[in-house]
Amino acid sequence: MRGFAVLLAVLTLFQSNQITRIPLHKGKSMRQALKENGLLDDFLRKHQYAIGRKYSNCGEVASEPLTNYLDSQYFGKIYIGTPPQEFTVVFDTGSSDLWVPPVYCNSDACQNHHRFNPSKASTIQNMGHPLTSQYGTGNIQGFLGYDTVTVSDIVDPQQTVGLSTQEPGNVFTYAKFDGILGMAYPSLASEYLVPVFDNMMYRHLVAHDLFSVYMSRNEQGSMLTLGAINSSYYMGSLHWVPVLVQEYWQFTVHSITVDGVVVACDGSCQAILDTGTSLLVGPGSNILNIQKVIGATQGQYGEFDIDCERLSSMPTVVFEIQGRQYPLPPSAYTTQDLGSCISGFQSASDTQQWILGDVFIQEYYSVFDRTNNCVGLAKAI
Ligand SMILES: *[C@@H]1O[C@H](CO)[C@@H](O)[C@H](O)[C@H]1NC(C)=O
Repeated sequence: MRGFAVLLAVLTLFQSNQITRIPLHKGKSMRQALKENGLLDDFLRKHQYAIGRKYSNCGEVASEPLTNYLDSQYFGKIYIGTPPQEFTVVFDTGSSDLWVPPVYCNSDACQNHHRFNPSKASTIQNMGHPLTSQYGTGNIQGFLGYDTVTVSDIVDPQQTVGLSTQEPGNVFTYAKFDGILGMAYPSLASEYLVPVFDNMMYRHLVAHDLFSVYMSRNEQGSMLTLGAINSSYYMGSLHWVPVLVQEYWQFTVHSITVDGVVVACDGSCQAILDTGTSLLVGPGSNILNIQKVIGATQGQYGEFDIDCERLSSMPTVVFEIQGRQYPLPPSAYTTQDLGSCISGFQSASDTQQWILGDVFIQEYYSVFDRTNNCVGLAKAI
């Protein structure tokens, strides 16, 4: 399981590397994206009625409970098609595609999971476009269709859905979730794929164009709230950080310190807030320095071990973001697994970008605001 957490963390990392290699369209509006893809006319023609609001002009607030599997995967249920077929997905702020496996995918990964059966779904429409979603463990390949996707109480009609035909590698085989629902910006989505939250905003299905995430350390109790901020999940006030590049939920971290001394991210660095990554990932030399300062030693699986007895005497690691300090005490940056303690910091050799994964979000309730393109952070309950 331990190794899995480490592998899962790589899921989004690869994508973050992609960013430097593939030119992405920046700051494109939903309408622009649809128009360029030749979809706008089609979209408007089909949905001149559906585009109106469901109940009123106010949209909805929906609560989607998430299950925490060993602090390494948080996932929730969604339904696709009519009649609805159930899937568990990771709501991943580090990617933008939605895909689930269909019945004709024969990879081990697909056979181990719920598979979408198009013949049972009267509504699926094949768009005739291929899907390629890139993750650290290989490319998910498949094709795109349109169908109704239901998340909590929100019924999202004519949603672009990827159906995978190939899921290579072990990570997806042993994953507790069936698919991934990307919550990053549309510029990261596969061609022709309109992300779920963009569709919800475009159709005014959500009360506000934002969503928020509370990640409990318990198995149950975590929550994704679509369209609202729920103040019962945090203490004090939210502080807002501007998103710098509208691809990932990316912002500037000013420094990372221990006892007032800079231990990493000297002179500022870039970070993304990523629900789909388990740990806190950074450039190799920076992370090694942090492991040294907290007294973690390299273990046999590439993880960094911590003596559980030492937890109370270990230092707090402080992230400074937008003039505010976000301390991570040892209880936050270590995960306990079968009686052993592991550092929640993980190095990535070939990236300068930091990934603030579940380890960070467990400590800080996170709001992802598409209206103002800001991230809101507050101490989680
Ligand atoms: C906020 O969260 C609490 C605790 O889970 C829940 O009881 C309440 O219904 C939520 N409020 C809204 C508006 O969703």
